Amino acid sequence: MDLQEILDDSHKVVFFGGAGVSTESGIPDFRSVDGLYNQKYDYPPEEILSHTFFMRHTKAFYDFYRDKMLCLTAKPNKAHLKLAEMEKAGLLSSVITQNIDGLHTAAGSKKVLELHGSVHRNYCMDCGKFYTAEDILNSTGVPKCSCGGTIKPNVVLYEEGLDDATVTEAVREISSCDTLIIAGTSLTVYPAAGMVRYFKGKHLVLINRDETSMDSACDLVIHGKVGETLDKIVIR
Ligand code: APR
Repeated sequence: MDLQEILDDSHKVVFFGGAGVSTESGIPDFRSVDGLYNQKYDYPPEEILSHTFFMRHTKAFYDFYRDKMLCLTAKPNKAHLKLAEMEKAGLLSSVITQNIDGLHTAAGSKKVLELHGSVHRNYCMDCGKFYTAEDILNSTGVPKCSCGGTIKPNVVLYEEGLDDATVTEAVREISSCDTLIIAGTSLTVYPAAGMVRYFKGKHLVLINRDETSMDSACDLVIHGKVGETLDKIVIR
């Protein structure tokens, strides 16, 4: 069955995506040859994006974070827009994403489970006051709260745990859908990557430019661009 036939045969679809869903919006992913982790910095990016580094080198963290992780001019692409349409039509139940760019919500998706948090939520570590991504982008050095505390982005850094309620809801969605579409992810970061193993429905679909460890377990594998691929879908 091709993707259109699978979707025509589906009642509850769940989408599980990664950085490859946002590359067509101009945001580089992490592990592709031109990805963030293959560019040269003073420290390895995966070290910079860790809790220890944030606590010990907060200014260096924010220099990298503002430069590389805040892409506030990026717009939703065809993948984000089609998924929002599929949800509105009652075909898609939820989007589960590892991305922190907020583009699914910007595209109109309502049920978005952000496993790794969002750049759009930032809180003072002392008083908990909320700040926007624009507040962070427009600040310099280490962003400080009006109370004097340090502001931290609500994104899951290495060494940090995922939000329990979000994980529980994502597992519930994956284990109760009849079609799971995995797209734009290398499936190399746990526990996110391990969650797709809860799928027990009819159609497991993978849309990814490069090969992944899950290819052989899927009913349909499309090695191509997720935006272009989803754009061809007709919602009946
Ligand atoms: N269409 C389809 N696939 C694409 C596209 C595209 N337009 N662009 C890139 N890809 C694929 C690449 O082939 C790659 O396999 O998306 C995948 C992106 O993989 P990663 O860069 O590893 O991103 P991701 O899987 O989301 O990383 C997971 O790692 O550093 C952490 O927290 C970070 O959430 C991130 C996690």
